[in-house]
Amino acid sequence: MAKNVNKGRQGIRGGRFAAKASDVMEEINASIDFDRHLYAQDIVASQAHARMLAETGIISEEDADAISGGLDTILSEIESGAFDFKQELEDIHMNVESRLGELIGDAAGRLHTARSRNDQVATDLRLWVRDALDGLDTASKNLQAALIERADEHSATIMPGFTHLQSAQPVTLGHHLLAYVEMLGRDRGRAVDCRRRLNECPLGAAALAGTSFPIDRDGVARALGFDQPMANSMDAVSDRDFALEYLSLAAILAVHLSRLAEEIVLWCSQQFSYAHMPDAFSTGSSIMPQKRNPDAAELVRGKTGSVIGALTGLLITLKGLPMTYGKDMQEDKVPVFEVSATLNLCLAAMTGMVGGMTFDTERMKADAGAGFATATDLADWLVRELDMPFREAHHVTGKLVTMAEKKGTDLDGLSLDDLQSVDRRITGDVLGILNVDDAANSRSSYGGTAPGNVKKAVAKARKRFLS
Ligand code: ARG
Repeated sequence: MAKNVNKGRQGIRGGRFAAKASDVMEEINASIDFDRHLYAQDIVASQAHARMLAETGIISEEDADAISGGLDTILSEIESGAFDFKQELEDIHMNVESRLGELIGDAAGRLHTARSRNDQVATDLRLWVRDALDGLDTASKNLQAALIERADEHSATIMPGFTHLQSAQPVTLGHHLLAYVEMLGRDRGRAVDCRRRLNECPLGAAALAGTSFPIDRDGVARALGFDQPMANSMDAVSDRDFALEYLSLAAILAVHLSRLAEEIVLWCSQQFSYAHMPDAFSTGSSIMPQKRNPDAAELVRGKTGSVIGALTGLLITLKGLPMTYGKDMQEDKVPVFEVSATLNLCLAAMTGMVGGMTFDTERMKADAGAGFATATDLADWLVRELDMPFREAHHVTGKLVTMAEKKGTDLDGLSLDDLQSVDRRITGDVLGILNVDDAANSRSSYGGTAPGNVKKAVAKARKRFLS
């Protein structure tokens, strides 16, 4: 048995090199510490390859059976924690192949026929990212479900809508939350696009040029759930655009989460006091006993930096690489694995926070009128009822806002005399539309914030995103 281990290792250095690699060389070369995450994909792809080699008569059925059985054993060894990963065997591919040699002897050496680690790793990583995309879709959907629930509950809760973080117009909290449901819907759409484009099989491209063996690339592609084999062997082993697409959509999703996180941080501050974080998602301070910090939201916001960094890092790694494979590409895995773990955690934390937050609806409503937030309603009334051109209405309203400011009141605190002192045509009817409820209710245009719209949008969102 020990003889076979040596054979496996000689497979890489044995024939060509007299001396052993230096320790530093071994360390910089090894990827096993991170690419061990690819074990399941590596094994399933090897089984599909071995089966195809037997079906095309390139290896015997007995050898293929032995290989497949041995790989099953390795899978359970890895999953039970019994597998001994070795740095000197560089990566997951050589670790698995070497162990296969120990388990089944010479037949193991036939597995690498018509294959290279170059097409092998490209295949493994595509399979891994495909699974990661499916996981991301489920996690994003869970967050959408939490947001939709809260939107339904708060379809008529009035809050300030901001532009420039200045009070702009009253909106409903439900409408605000549904905005994030839309963003997440597009994030999920990008994941679907990415999955569709990456779902082609590199296996059979071999080192870079294809192979002289009569392989069946369609069969392997089908067995692994790919739509088809990749059309160009050089492209197959050398591009990592699928990883870049994954990191790009991840970065955009992280930015969406970060913006929501930032809002949660603001809403939970004493100054806003719109929302209250449940104990399960709050932390205390080591020195200030009164503190109740929204750390999870801050961390979602903070981790976005590393997600964006992962995308930038891989873009830079790839930008100067001549065709085809270069060892630089080994660096593609860490950003992908880290981003996946980060996003899963952030999505779960966000789902928990959104589900558990409580809102001070009185406070939000009181704040909604601040800063003359119904000024646009007044201007719209002047246009509608007095047939004023909008620019003139804007001017008249501006004068009234200045007057209210001087008197230290809101717009609905002005008397009819005050209003008529600026324009004689204004009637008492206008006094009824200057409160925040009417302002929100009146915005019933498609996609607008009115509570009735929110109820309909919630029902639609459930159908579009949760069914
Ligand atoms: N560990 C390598 C990687 O992740 C596998 C491919 C090695 N190919 C090679 N020609 N040295 O990229």
